Amino acid sequence: MRADVAVVGAGAAGLYAALVAAREGARVVLVSRSPLAETASYWAQGGIAAALALSDSPARHLADTLAAGRGASRPSAARVLCEESAESVRDLESLGVHFDADRRGQLALGLEGGHSVRRVVHAGGSATGRRITRELSARAAVDERIEVLEGAAARSLQLTDGRCVGVVAERSGGQTVSIHVRATVLATGGAAALWERTTNPPGTVGAGLTLAQHAGADLADLEFVQFHPTALRHPANDGFLITEAIRGEGALLVDDSGERFVDELAPRDQVALAIEHVMRSDTDAGVFLDLRRIDMTHFPNVAAALKRAGLDPGRDLIPVAPAAHYTMGGIATDLDGRASLDGLFAVGECACNGMHGANRLASNSLAECFVFGRRAGAAAAAAAPLEATIGGFVPDTPDPVPPPATRAALWRNAGLVRTADGLRELLDDPFPLARTIAAAALAREESRGAHQRSDRPAPDPAYDGQHMLIRGGEIRLERWD
Ligand code: SIN
Repeated sequence: MRADVAVVGAGAAGLYAALVAAREGARVVLVSRSPLAETASYWAQGGIAAALALSDSPARHLADTLAAGRGASRPSAARVLCEESAESVRDLESLGVHFDADRRGQLALGLEGGHSVRRVVHAGGSATGRRITRELSARAAVDERIEVLEGAAARSLQLTDGRCVGVVAERSGGQTVSIHVRATVLATGGAAALWERTTNPPGTVGAGLTLAQHAGADLADLEFVQFHPTALRHPANDGFLITEAIRGEGALLVDDSGERFVDELAPRDQVALAIEHVMRSDTDAGVFLDLRRIDMTHFPNVAAALKRAGLDPGRDLIPVAPAAHYTMGGIATDLDGRASLDGLFAVGECACNGMHGANRLASNSLAECFVFGRRAGAAAAAAAPLEATIGGFVPDTPDPVPPPATRAALWRNAGLVRTADGLRELLDDPFPLARTIAAAALAREESRGAHQRSDRPAPDPAYDGQHMLIRGGEIRLERWD
């Protein structure tokens, strides 16, 4: 197949990047491995953070983003997000997304941890991801410039003279498709399902990171993995996310004796660690969300999941515990989603432009999908024509599916609190990406945000503003302004 741009991944970032590239006149092939309902964006309950309130401003959103990032956010990338996020909300509205309104017909703004004002827009309450991705995929399906290759998994990137010139995909029947393009955009999602306990769909195991790394692109900041504080702890649906927006509406976190122990709206790293601390204090200790005062009609999928688990939020305390939720690290990019490999772009959770630093601010991830999805889609559409028209070297890419033992080992040794010994054990794991994560976490000899090491319990100012760059087998720190 030939086109101008290939987009791999049909979650929020991929769909939007594809639509933007098509709007810019490019012919796009959208390669989609999983059905829409299995993408992390479809599962997203949080909304889009944007400075839309009269009392808000991009500068205030930026200050909150940088504070949550714990001194490791790339300021230029965070600034772009905060300045352009409101415009993304408007563009999504023009594409047919209906965001929830308040009684006066203005956009209803929710509050989440680490935000100093109400700034999160939702569509259908906690069904936001579902609503947005449905609307965008319907648009992509009828766009004459976009060809959707469904049920096709990207297996390798194609290279010619150090440039990425496309992708090789395998269809569900085993047939191989070779796609030649000027620009390839990876939007394959994160890697949080590499951890045994996760809020993510099973396919989010860093497939894009593996593809990019084996084609020679740089990765960064893989030691920064966010653990969401409130995943359901129940055999009926273990790990199901209970959105932070619910705490924004007054849900409380309590221990076994019904006592609060943390500011429920502190940034996520702080809340998750406080829960971990309570749970480690005693083998039987539990932590619960008290939803008894909450109007659950705003949280339809949470209400349905609790019902399925036999829990009544109007009566029962809901058992919760942290779970791996979001990878701040990924394929290293600039502010237009450009990876270090010519012709390759990355956007959404598989990308790392450094904006989230050591701890992402709630609902900055969907915002990132649209702000940087637009930039990457436009930059990909403008990529230089190919000199070589066909062919190219296809590097061997390892199987992106981790064995179950790897997931258990990551949870045990690269979970909320790590030690050098545990991380060293992971260096022998059979799954290459697990080894790279361990190497990055070992190299950051401090505790910061989501990366907590009991053997290095404090942040070290020497790492302020430093990103962990992974190039082939080498790891080094780099300052990104
Ligand atoms: C949530 O709804 O709590 C998760 C949203 C996010 O990851 O920002």
